[in-house]
Amino acid sequence: MTKRVLTGINTTGTLHIGNYVGAIRPAIRDSRNPDVQSFFFLADLHALIKCQDPARIERSRRQIAATWLAAGLDPDKVVFYRQSDIPEIPTLNWLLTCCTAKGQMNRAHAYKAATDAAVEAGRDPDSDVSMGLYCYPILMAADILMFNADEVPVGHDQLQHLEMARDVATRFNYLYAKPDAPFFTMPQATGGSAVEVLPGLDGRKMSKSYNNVIPLFEGGRKALDEAVSRIVTDSKLPGEPKDPDSNSLCVLYAAFSTPEELEAFKNELRAGLGWGEAKKRLADKIDAEIGPMRKRYEELMASPETVEAILQEGARKARAYAVPFLARLKEAVGLRAFTAPVEAAAEEKTVKQAKALFKQYREKDGLFYFKLAMNGRELLLSEGFASGRDAGQWVGRLKKEGYAALEGAPVKRTEGTTDDDLRAALDTFRED
Ligand code: TRP
Repeated sequence: MTKRVLTGINTTGTLHIGNYVGAIRPAIRDSRNPDVQSFFFLADLHALIKCQDPARIERSRRQIAATWLAAGLDPDKVVFYRQSDIPEIPTLNWLLTCCTAKGQMNRAHAYKAATDAAVEAGRDPDSDVSMGLYCYPILMAADILMFNADEVPVGHDQLQHLEMARDVATRFNYLYAKPDAPFFTMPQATGGSAVEVLPGLDGRKMSKSYNNVIPLFEGGRKALDEAVSRIVTDSKLPGEPKDPDSNSLCVLYAAFSTPEELEAFKNELRAGLGWGEAKKRLADKIDAEIGPMRKRYEELMASPETVEAILQEGARKARAYAVPFLARLKEAVGLRAFTAPVEAAAEEKTVKQAKALFKQYREKDGLFYFKLAMNGRELLLSEGFASGRDAGQWVGRLKKEGYAALEGAPVKRTEGTTDDDLRAALDTFRED
């Protein structure tokens, strides 16, 4: 079976070669795998959370669409669309919002970072928090679940969002699906091949916030040369032997060359190649790969109707999945035509699965224990507690807070118990 991989692209800011090497190039390479069905989308509804300048929103999504196309994303092979062109996504977002616990959103890193920063600055914790930011993870879950993605390549900072998507999917399935026919597949976070982190001009991670980037297309070859000339090196003169690993030059070179080319380059530096000449060669090397793309990028930027047509076609393909799927989901939650066949309503599935069960007991060692079981299978065993009350308190907490309370809980999983088993079991205790 082909696997479905979904990639969300932020449409804020302009891109640098660290983004290209670390994310764009590997994602495009992965999308050429014939066993993969790839969905790429511009997360432009998410962009409104961070930016309320319409001109910037517009320009940024146009630049980023053109960048991915110029870098080789093939819209005939992948589904490439704008989030805002798929009205089914915000509708699904609402269905999911209504079965997401507020407490879970309170724990989201992005929200907590914003409240922490405000408190630090002596302001009200929520002073910088819009409901968009607060609910960001649910919209992201809708992006993913709308297409039942199997895999979502994301960076470390997004892992919690994937966890939340799995949680809300479990919850929705529990509330509305027959146990043997869940609506949503559980999306897995993967790194994709995007593991490479490129250093910037000063050797730290290339990042706009460090002002150490080499721009990808913006500013043309001139901006590329200028940035490369600012790579920090020592003051050794041409002719003096150099340590090729003393700065980021060779790591950048490596990202655009074969191992043999890299070795030859390093040997020349050891033999005295001047830094100025070395930088020129690096810029040539980078430009050999991205120069032709830049040309295509400029053509696409000059032809908005071409990009618009590509994205409209992408939206059509995406909606071919989203429209019928959302129709099923709406019908599942009870939003049906009044004229829908009566059988459908009469045959109303009883959505309740067997509840999971906590058992509390005392062992011969005199200590108090509890275990969690579902459908006759044991999933968790607790440590021993000196008092039954302590054991009971943990049971209460696990019932109330669900999966999130497991971290740090004094329990062991039985062999073969997966995260999804535990989520599903603990979810049965939540108030409906
Ligand atoms: N939050 C992601 C980021 O900051 C972007 C994004 C939005 C996304 N929706 C998504 C990524 C769905 C993957 C899947 O990078």
